[in-house]
Amino acid sequence: MHRRGFLALPLATLAPAPAKADPFTLGVASGDPLPDGVVLWTRLAPRPLEPAGGLPKADFPVRWQVAEDEGFGRIVKDGATTAAAAYGHSVHVDVRGLEPGRDYFYRFRTGRHISPAGRTRTAPARTARPDRMRFAIASCQNYSDGWYTALRHLAGEDLDVLFFLGDYLYEGAVTSAGGARNDASLRLPDTFELATDTLDLYRMRYALYRTDPDLQAAHAAVPWALTWDDHEVQDNYAAGVPRFEVPPVDFLVHRANAYRAYWENQPLRRPRQPAGPDMPLHRRLRFGDLAHAYLLDTRQYRTDQACGDGILDVCGERDEPGRTLLGPGQRTWLLNGMATSGARWNLLAQQVMMAECRYGGEAGRLDMDKWDGYPADRAAILGTAARVPGTVVLTGDIHFNYAADLLTDFTRPDTPPVAVELVGTSLTSGGDGADVVPKLQLQQRFSPHLRFTNGQRGYVRCELTRDTLRADFRVLSHVTRPGSPITTRATFVSERARPGLVPA
Ligand SMILES: [Fe+2]
Repeated sequence: MHRRGFLALPLATLAPAPAKADPFTLGVASGDPLPDGVVLWTRLAPRPLEPAGGLPKADFPVRWQVAEDEGFGRIVKDGATTAAAAYGHSVHVDVRGLEPGRDYFYRFRTGRHISPAGRTRTAPARTARPDRMRFAIASCQNYSDGWYTALRHLAGEDLDVLFFLGDYLYEGAVTSAGGARNDASLRLPDTFELATDTLDLYRMRYALYRTDPDLQAAHAAVPWALTWDDHEVQDNYAAGVPRFEVPPVDFLVHRANAYRAYWENQPLRRPRQPAGPDMPLHRRLRFGDLAHAYLLDTRQYRTDQACGDGILDVCGERDEPGRTLLGPGQRTWLLNGMATSGARWNLLAQQVMMAECRYGGEAGRLDMDKWDGYPADRAAILGTAARVPGTVVLTGDIHFNYAADLLTDFTRPDTPPVAVELVGTSLTSGGDGADVVPKLQLQQRFSPHLRFTNGQRGYVRCELTRDTLRADFRVLSHVTRPGSPITTRATFVSERARPGLVPA
């Protein structure tokens, strides 16, 4: 169906048009690919930086289409849905009935406006035995720290899925020129100077991020499978415990607002929808028998950081039984899934660094916010990984690249790794960065299983085959000005049967 045909489709009787201005300022997205479907997302906001996106408190009908071709000549699915004011005029369509392992194009329409088109890709059939899977990991896109050039490059990669590992937005102030972007064409309202806590402020913050054309390009190019980290709510929060002193009931209201806005603004299915301050985000995506991906949530269910949090020399509390990063339910679900998956590879897409990372000093200090602060859960996972080959941990959070081998006993560097970890740097957070960072070199001296470190911005592009993982660390020269080229700083491979990252 051509543009004219899409416009001619009937909307609900007496349906209001949302606005004269284009309501598709936030782009489109797809996510969580299944063999027979994907989630399609958009959100109506003709004036994206205003409360409610400049829309009245009314619901608007939206039509959607999925086609086999970019020109929308061969429509395979279409339908109608509602952009509800109660959900920030967001749209989530759980399309089913598609063919496995193939590309589709999608778009939306409301009133006389048609959205930009997105491309997506379904997962292989459950029984398929794919030879290859290509994905990337990305995380940490503080708007105030730079331009999303990495996402523009990412949009040009040929990927089956992008795993986004957290810090989609940051809760702190954004100045009127966008911080380090210093964008002369931008004039943000003063409300962006407020740290996000209310639902409206979160909605506006997501709208700001989503107006970025490079971010829109990356969403429109590939399905995303997202999990969050801390900054979508508040720096280093732990379950119901805030980093900053507020009464727990107040923090849970804050968390409820943050989770609600997260759900509204991401391509997630209905079962992920929050109820008050609770949002069941952890889930599994299957890519035939080649890989099962576990999207983990290490924030919502964790025990509070040991010894008051921080990078500490000695902390007895860290080893107390019952301390958990995943929470009992998620932990059991993950361990059972890994043990029984039958997939060639198990990908643990999650937030914080799993490899032991000693920061130097006499006892080789450890960071209590990472898996280093929760050794019992780590031991359980790596114990399972020792029995089930093909575990790859995918990590964000710390704004540096690492290639790390995972050992069941990090004090015995001579023992063979049981799994590997790829820690992806930030997209912008931390600013331009540098190739060599003395702090990281010190960590490598104390923790020899850290095979590679780098402090530039970018993402990690990966390819899985039946027996081999290959990872390209893609880096930019700068992010505080637009337009950086991208290069592959290092490539590592690991064999499924003999895990351990080695330079390619
Ligand atoms: Fe971050």
